[in-house]
Amino acid sequence: MDKLLLHGGRFLTGSINISGSKNASLPILAASLLTDQQVVIERVPDVSDTNYMLQILSALGCEVERYSGTVKITAAKIHPEAPYELVRKMRASICVMGPLLARLGRASVSIPGGCVIGDRPIDLHLKGLQAIGAHIDNEGGNILIEAKDGLTGKEVDLRGKHGPTVLGTDNLMMAAVLAEGTTIIESAACEPEVIDLAHFLNSMGARIEGAGTRRITIEGVTSLSGTHHTVIPDRIEAGTFMVAAAMAARDAVTLNRVRQDQLTGATEKLREAGHFVDFNETGDQVTIRPGHSPIGCSISTAPHPGFPTDMQAQFTAMFATTPGISVVEDTIFPQRFMHCAELTRMGADITVDNGTAIVHGVKQLGAAPVMASDLRASAALVLAGLTAKGTTEINRLYHIDRGYEMIDEKLLQLGAKVERVRGSA
Ligand code: EPU
Repeated sequence: MDKLLLHGGRFLTGSINISGSKNASLPILAASLLTDQQVVIERVPDVSDTNYMLQILSALGCEVERYSGTVKITAAKIHPEAPYELVRKMRASICVMGPLLARLGRASVSIPGGCVIGDRPIDLHLKGLQAIGAHIDNEGGNILIEAKDGLTGKEVDLRGKHGPTVLGTDNLMMAAVLAEGTTIIESAACEPEVIDLAHFLNSMGARIEGAGTRRITIEGVTSLSGTHHTVIPDRIEAGTFMVAAAMAARDAVTLNRVRQDQLTGATEKLREAGHFVDFNETGDQVTIRPGHSPIGCSISTAPHPGFPTDMQAQFTAMFATTPGISVVEDTIFPQRFMHCAELTRMGADITVDNGTAIVHGVKQLGAAPVMASDLRASAALVLAGLTAKGTTEINRLYHIDRGYEMIDEKLLQLGAKVERVRGSA
């Protein structure tokens, strides 16, 4: 297993390009199952989650070609059984369920297992698909989903106890595009990744309106065609490097290929914590300068356009060395605080109780061997290591490779002293 050695104390400077979004790519790749014609998708990040999705698509019968960021998929002859061995590796595999159901009338997908960031039920995915006519059975750890008489549009409220569901909205949207009649999703997720999926589907001939709002209307069509699409920038990768810059830039760090409108949560909180965030006129480049007297603040995660849960761990790492007291609440995944124990091992003063972390900023963290536990928790440890005294050793690097394209190379480009140590399996 690879590990990362991060020699703390180097200042960051210069600029990097942000990759295409992992979380937009995954459902878009799955949506290629909806047509027998070729789809071409650009700026798919080369991370292990997108690679798992491409393996699943190949296993379902798709022809897949990949040249760096460009992926070509033809789902001419596919079958409905997603293999457990691949599906178990990534929770987002669940988003092949909607497209398979719509295209073939049935699907068999294993139930995703537990997850370190908390309970990840799929009841809302099933509720949505059932509402438009799917019959669901559970057999040997697999969900068997079938629509013998086809799918018929309905009005469905997808709100759960923690708010809307991103992939649940995606799954229903992908199934409803080929249903008969009109489907209305109430309490839909309005994350930028949902909008990108809707753009992709509309470019294939779907009729979706309202993506990006809480009410999405999908008028079913009989078939979809091939298309060419470029994935939106990864707002979480951008946010992570914005925090890195606020913590460790000498003067300024610039990030290219971003979207200002997708970075509002991180931007507002970095400014509130005393840092400087400036976008260019077109909103696709951002420059971050560390503030002279940063100060802790409060964060509460919320569905988009609120502060993203996927940025919670990174801000917690920043607050660990920000003067004052910061309060970090995760309302979406209240158990997503695994990074706090590792940050504490590096000298942070953090107490976690009932979905909230209270962080008393300390002057500096000290390096320690730490364990990555999930994707964003690992990013938090990398950020902490940038300014810690000594060499931080981050083990289980495969977590970060799931969602950050070439993070070590991008950090090197900005002047960090970082080494990837290749290990055995
Ligand atoms: N939920 C239910 N029932 C469901 C589905 C979700 O109760 O059927 C609950 C979840 O337990 C959670 C809340 O609803 O409390 C929101 O979960 P959501 O379904 O929106 O999460 P997701 O779609 O499975 C995506 C991202 C996550 C991100 C969440 C929230 C992808 C591939 N994953 O997951 O990203 O945290 O939305 O924004 O898009 C990450 O990239 O590190 C990551 C975990």
